[in-house]
Amino acid sequence: MRVTPKASDIGRAVGVLRAGGLVAVPTETVYGLGANAEDPVAVARVFQVKGRPPTHPLIIHLADATQLGDWVADVPEAALALAGHFWPGPLTLVLRRGSRVPLEATGGLETVAVRVPAHPVALELLSAFGGGVAAPSANRFGSVSPTTADHVRAELGDAVDFVLDGGPCNVGVESTIVDATGDTPNILRPGGVTPEELEAVLGRPVSAVSTSRIRVPGQHPSHYAPRARVVLVEPEEIAAEAQAAQERGHQVGVFLPPSCADVPVKAHAAVAIPESMADYARGLYGFLRELDELGCDLIVASVPVEEGLGLAIANRLRRAAGPRETHRPAPETVRMR
Ligand code: TXA
Ligand code: MG
Repeated sequence: MRVTPKASDIGRAVGVLRAGGLVAVPTETVYGLGANAEDPVAVARVFQVKGRPPTHPLIIHLADATQLGDWVADVPEAALALAGHFWPGPLTLVLRRGSRVPLEATGGLETVAVRVPAHPVALELLSAFGGGVAAPSANRFGSVSPTTADHVRAELGDAVDFVLDGGPCNVGVESTIVDATGDTPNILRPGGVTPEELEAVLGRPVSAVSTSRIRVPGQHPSHYAPRARVVLVEPEEIAAEAQAAQERGHQVGVFLPPSCADVPVKAHAAVAIPESMADYARGLYGFLRELDELGCDLIVASVPVEEGLGLAIANRLRRAAGPRETHRPAPETVRMR
């Protein structure tokens, strides 16, 4: 259900951004923790609230593609085609940094990630604000992204100055990030726009493997992780794995794929995974949070077929299952302007 904020809420959010505060912004993918992209102090607060290393770049959100020229140094033809086709939408383009973008927002990189979100409330806010809003997902570093305003409130509480409630996010996984700085666009993170859709627009295959030397912090082995440990097995192994873990004393949560819907499973809690990948993506982070809230300490799941939106879902599940000790990266120094 879409929630329509009052005009006064948009006004209040704009006021908070102008005053250097932080606003939780609904987008079609996940909620963002937004700050005025041109205010290095506000941007620094985003990193602090998230507990995110300052070298990890943020995405700058714009009201429409016509503003692109203000924020990036140049727009290769392929980037123009992608922006023209997918914006507003769940696609982020990495391009050469324009002078309007402070190095604080890009983690010191000479490239910048930009996108126009397809959410009426985000677009209303961005138009009223007039500038760029730098926003990572509104969760603590490494944990599950929020897809409702309640998720944001539960996770960040008073650390965010204003939560703009736009209802639950429709896509449910983050944007697809494409490095469009060169002649051959390259997917840095799978997301709401599928490789198949990108290829249809570009008229050539797109690499889904990061071959570029650009640092991609979302690629940390553990990311998008619930409190419970996540174990990935083949679908036909789910029931046995869950039972064995229950018997070892775990509170087991299970992601039950449609192919196992009739299989009896001994577990503390189970989520029936929707057949449609769009529904699965929309529900994914909520399911992980739900199993956490039900007290599960171990989640047994399997990855879907890695095509279409299944690629992004599989990517998030694999990272959720990644080794946890890499959560706190070694401190790095970065030269700021
Ligand atoms: O759907 C989304 O993309 C959401 C909503 C709020 O827009 N945002 C989001 O932001 O997922 P975040 O910060 O959680 O992930 C952004 C990722 C970074 O982790 C990094 O991998 C990549 O964007 N990124 C940002 N700037 C980059 C750059 N200049 N070069 C390469 N990757 C970059
Ligand atoms: Mg994130």
